[in-house]
Amino acid sequence: MAMKLRSVILLGLALCAGAAPAMADNIAEKVEVCAGCHGADGKPIDKTIPVIWGQLTGYVYIQLRDFKRGDRKSEIMQPIASAFERDDMLAIAEYFSQKKWPDLGQPRAPKDVSKKATDAEHSVGCTGCHLEQFQGSSTTPRLAGQSREYLEKTMADFRTRARGNNPGMSDLMIATPESDLTALAEFLAGL
Ligand code: HEC
Ligand code: HEC
Repeated sequence: MAMKLRSVILLGLALCAGAAPAMADNIAEKVEVCAGCHGADGKPIDKTIPVIWGQLTGYVYIQLRDFKRGDRKSEIMQPIASAFERDDMLAIAEYFSQKKWPDLGQPRAPKDVSKKATDAEHSVGCTGCHLEQFQGSSTTPRLAGQSREYLEKTMADFRTRARGNNPGMSDLMIATPESDLTALAEFLAGL
């Protein structure tokens, strides 16, 4: 009962004009730490760190939740995500999804690599979930223009189940030859 009353009051406050900037300040403080790795301009400081600017809200939220739960293992992200409650994670996900996806300047894949990647794409049907042009939707991530090195690493992690938060993606990656995954990473990075 007390919890319910509290949510009603919070909702009321959030709906009041004037409450929005305070909420925004709060989030701006919480995301300051992220820039140290994911980049102050959205370009990650290292190629094995993913782009999160412009990524889908639902997807970013699920990852933060899974890092906190330990379903997705990362010595770096787990302690960071553990500091957040569900509402923080939703607000942070919303914050990053509204940023513009950065151009990492990765080259388009050469013709032979593109062909190998699109053949693999057609046989698995990646775009059935990741959508045309790999723009993603809801809890399925955007892959277009993601860092090539990160894509390779995370697909390999799905394959070994080191990334175990989505068994369906692991099964798909295990069923796809490694050389196709290498081609897909290069192709997706260049989109
Ligand atoms: C010290 C560096 C560092 C900091 C600080 C950091 N991250 Fe990360 N982040 C990483 C690395 C490395 C990964 C990739 C983890 C892996 O899969 O191995 C990652 C992955 C993620 C992912 C998963 C993205 C995807 O495409 O799957 C999200 C979401 C994320 N971080 C959000 C955040 C947020 C939000 C903050 C700030 C509150 C933050 N990170 C701070 C290094 C960092
Ligand atoms: C049945 C739907 C489905 C299909 C088909 C599918 N994916 Fe996924 N994929 C997902 C979902 C959902 C996630 C998010 C998993 C999570 O929450 O960690 C994901 C995550 C990923 C990620 C992680 C991105 C990141 O930022 O960490 C990569 C890379 C990926 N998929 C590549 C592919 C490729 C390449 C194919 C085709 C060979 C493919 N997927 C086919 C649903 C799908």
